[in-house]
Amino acid sequence: MNLQVFDTYKDLSRAVADMIGQVIKDKPDAMICIASGHTPIGVFEGIVNDVQSGLLNISRCTFVSLDEWLGIDPSDQGSCLSMLRRDFFDRVPLNQSQVHYFDVQVSNPEEECLRIDQLIASHGGLDVMLVGIGTNGHIGMNEPGTPFRSRSHISELAEETRVTGQKYFTKKTTLTQGITLGLAHFSEAKLPILMANGGRKKAIMEKVMRRRASERLPATIIHQIQNAQVMVDREAYNPEG
Ligand code: F6R
Repeated sequence: MNLQVFDTYKDLSRAVADMIGQVIKDKPDAMICIASGHTPIGVFEGIVNDVQSGLLNISRCTFVSLDEWLGIDPSDQGSCLSMLRRDFFDRVPLNQSQVHYFDVQVSNPEEECLRIDQLIASHGGLDVMLVGIGTNGHIGMNEPGTPFRSRSHISELAEETRVTGQKYFTKKTTLTQGITLGLAHFSEAKLPILMANGGRKKAIMEKVMRRRASERLPATIIHQIQNAQVMVDREAYNPEG
């Protein structure tokens, strides 16, 4: 694991966008998994700017959305897909075949998990997987207790996720289950990036950095991934205390 600490969210976001940009320059047909939520917004901003100013060409990349709420209409503005569309997909020139996500309207979500796993495998794995961290240490919707060897699966949301997830919705929304890429996808990605910013993540980041890898705290998987990049701002984690 490699840790980089930045003074501001802006610097952090720029560095993560550059890291992903470099992968795309080296491998134009890279497959990139991206989280939704508040953490990566600045990264998307950076990539969008690079694409719009002609510095980066993403015309051969494929993007895979990390997860989705089950039981929520994908058109709801709090769905992971709506967030990614607003913050990224709709702001860059992409055709449909470049964008992949869990379809939560299928009759068999287990089959949907297999479909996404096969898509990733057929590509030879993920080149980049960018994830945030929940205040309970989750990655994607891999809640505490999820096996490190997990691939795409249906997840029972932890109480903390059901509560904090409300921030994405305009009205009180019942969140019970999710569908998510697994922790094995993260450890096998060529460039796994865990990003965290802001004081709200300070307590969990301290715990994750202090503890050894344990399935009780999913983000601690970083300790057993040699090439994992932990990218934080100083508010989220300050190694000097
Ligand atoms: C989002 C996701 C979640 C978030 C995490 C942090 O697709 O999978 O695990 O990354 O809950 O959320 P934010 O970034 O909103 O603080």
